[in-house]
Amino acid sequence: MPNTAPPNRPLRPLIVFGTRPEAIKMSPVILECQRRPAQVAPIVCSTGQHREMLAQVLGYFGITPDIDLGLMKPGQTLTGLTAACLEAVDSVIVDQKPDCVVVQGDTTTVMAAAMAAFYHRVPIVHVEAGLRTGDLMAPWPEEFNRRVAGIITKLHCAPTQRSADALLAEGVDAKNIRITGNTVIDALLHSVEKERNEDAKWRAEYPAATADSVVLITGHRRENFGPGMASILDAIADLARLHPETQFIYPVHLNPNVKGPVHERLAGLENVHLVPPADYPQFVWLMDRASVVLTDSGGVQEEAPSLGNAVLVTREKTERPEAVEAGLAELVGTNRELIVRRVSESLVVAAKKTRSERASQVVDNPYGDGKAAARIVDWMIEDCQRMN
Ligand code: UD1
Ligand code: UDP
Repeated sequence: MPNTAPPNRPLRPLIVFGTRPEAIKMSPVILECQRRPAQVAPIVCSTGQHREMLAQVLGYFGITPDIDLGLMKPGQTLTGLTAACLEAVDSVIVDQKPDCVVVQGDTTTVMAAAMAAFYHRVPIVHVEAGLRTGDLMAPWPEEFNRRVAGIITKLHCAPTQRSADALLAEGVDAKNIRITGNTVIDALLHSVEKERNEDAKWRAEYPAATADSVVLITGHRRENFGPGMASILDAIADLARLHPETQFIYPVHLNPNVKGPVHERLAGLENVHLVPPADYPQFVWLMDRASVVLTDSGGVQEEAPSLGNAVLVTREKTERPEAVEAGLAELVGTNRELIVRRVSESLVVAAKKTRSERASQVVDNPYGDGKAAARIVDWMIEDCQRMN
């Protein structure tokens, strides 16, 4: 079992991530560690669960992993990836002997890295802990991944009071839970003004997004694959025909189970723009331009309320109900008629306001205040020394 970081040397956390959203949400934590070299010397490890979509984020935040496990395979299976990730992170823990392992969220990387840490009795710090739908099949397999990590986590960084309450209800000791806010808001605040200043550059890259009426779309949830996704895509085609003046910008996720059906059902519609995954800064700018966001993404549900757009969530359940309860987002599921009706109504409402009127309506984001990373690093340093 690794030893305490003695008071005379910095703490050595192994910070592990593998996908686009983990990189976006972990970058503020890594940058915060790098600002405190006397206290913390992170070992940054990418599992490479994602490849291109991860590179799109790390370059922007200026982060180069110390270790890149390069695990991604085209069309990878959950079992194959889990097994490879568990073995590979295990070797890193053996080599590096970290004081703790830090994971973020609910992906396969998170579940496997947490298990590897547990087998070596290395304390786990779980960033974005405690989000729950209560249904193991939605989001699938993420609800399971997050719960597995939660069972073996020592330090739970819950973004909101609700996520802390979910952990307490499962019997987690209150002294191991801190409410930190979500680091996705740290990342967003780091970027949004910067990208507004790059307006001319991004207008040239995404000319369709300069229209007065823009709908931004993302979708990749496994539980929607098949009929659910087909229904969402048919709704988008209906909407494109109903609103020829509106431009529908759809950065398509690289998962072949997404790319295939999206191109099959939406190619050829003049006002539907199927583009590759956007780099994070461009995506922030696109969210800022759009009046309506139609998404099943976890991170986008958290970010979009900061930008004053209508957020319609193509899921039946969400582990992030705070925005829905605050009236900042709405679950529309995968029902074709409902999606068409609610997007159409939201476009009518949006058309009555100027962009600056929409921006002036922005309220406090329920997921965070932009200072989550500093709280997480403070607590990690303090508590990992106590735990080891
Ligand atoms: C994963 C996460 C999901 C998260 C999503 C964020 C799991 C089980 N799923 O889903 O929770 O919301 O990332 O985007 O951990 N691919 C590429 N290049 C890339 C990334 C993916 O080609 O940069 C393709 C590959 O064919 C790969 C496939 O997408 O095999 C699936 O990737 P995977 O990470 O297994 O699942 P996602 O659907 O991306
Ligand atoms: N995002 C991005 N480019 C895109 C789509 C999304 O940079 O083309 C960002 C978005 O700003 C958010 C994160 O990726 O921070 C969400 O990732 P994703 O939807 O892949 O995963 P989830 O959050 O659902 O796990």
